[in-house]
Amino acid sequence: MQFETIPWRGRFGPFELKVGPATFRPSTISGLVADTMEVDEGSTVIDVGCGSGILSIIAAKLGARMVFGIDAAEGTVEVATSNAEAQGVADRTSFHEGNVFDPLPDGVEADLVIGDISGIPDPLASASGWFPAGLAGGPTGAELPMRMLEEAKRFLRKGGRLLLPTGTLQDEKSILDKAKSVFGTLRQLTERAIPLPTSLMDHPVMSRLVKDRVVEVSQRGSRYLWTARVWEASA
Ligand SMILES: C[S@@+](CC[C@H](N)C(=O)[O-])C[C@H]1O[C@@H](n2cnc3c(N)ncnc32)[C@H](O)[C@@H]1O
Repeated sequence: MQFETIPWRGRFGPFELKVGPATFRPSTISGLVADTMEVDEGSTVIDVGCGSGILSIIAAKLGARMVFGIDAAEGTVEVATSNAEAQGVADRTSFHEGNVFDPLPDGVEADLVIGDISGIPDPLASASGWFPAGLAGGPTGAELPMRMLEEAKRFLRKGGRLLLPTGTLQDEKSILDKAKSVFGTLRQLTERAIPLPTSLMDHPVMSRLVKDRVVEVSQRGSRYLWTARVWEASA
C-alpha cells in the first residue's frame, strides 16, 4: 500500500499525518470537531468513522485513558496506528476496521462517542471525490449517521456524551430528528459557513440535490456557502 503524508494544522498541530489511498483526508469539519471536543481525564472514547485517527489522537492528548477508533476504509488500522505512534498516544488508542460499531471489543462502554461518520449523499461524495474509499452516507447522507445514532446509545455510559457534526450538505433535519428521538435534547456547540467549490456547485448532481431539497447552499456575492454545525447529546 502506498502512503502519503499530509499536514494537520488544527488543535495540537501542526504535525504530519500518514494517509493511505482509502483514508479520508481531515477536513474543515475535522477541525471544528477537534476544536469543540472536551474529554474528561481518564475517560473512554469511541471515534466512529476515525479515518486517519486524527480525532482519536486529539481525544488521547486531551486525557482519554482509552480511545477505540473504527473505520470501514481499507488500511485504517495500519494508518491510524502509525499516526498514533508518531504522536505518542499508541498506548491509549486501539484501531479497528469494520462497519460502524461492529468491530468494538465486547463490553466497551464509553464516556464520549465522536460520531463523525460519513454523512454526505452518495452522489455528492462521488462528484466531489472527498471520500477516497467511496464510503459515503447513503442516498441523502442521513442514512448512515441515523444508523450510527440508533446504535450509539448502547455503547455510552449513563451521562456519557455524543459529539455529532451535521451540515446543510445532507438531509440534516432527518439526522437531528433521529438524534432528538434517541437522546432527547441536543446542544449546538458551533456553526461555520464553509465555501463550496464552484466546480461542485456547477455539477448536475448538486443541482438535483438542491432542487430535491436534500441539501441547502446559500450565495454570498460570487461565493457559494454551506453551513456545518457540531452538536452534543447526553445519554
Ligand atoms: C467525514 S469522514 C471523518 C474521518 C475522520 N473523523 C476525520 O475527521 O478525518 C467519515 C469517515 O467514516 C468512514 N465510514 C464510512 N462508512 C463507514 C461505516 N459503515 N463504518 C465505519 N466507518 C465508515 C469513512 O471511511 C470516513 O473515514
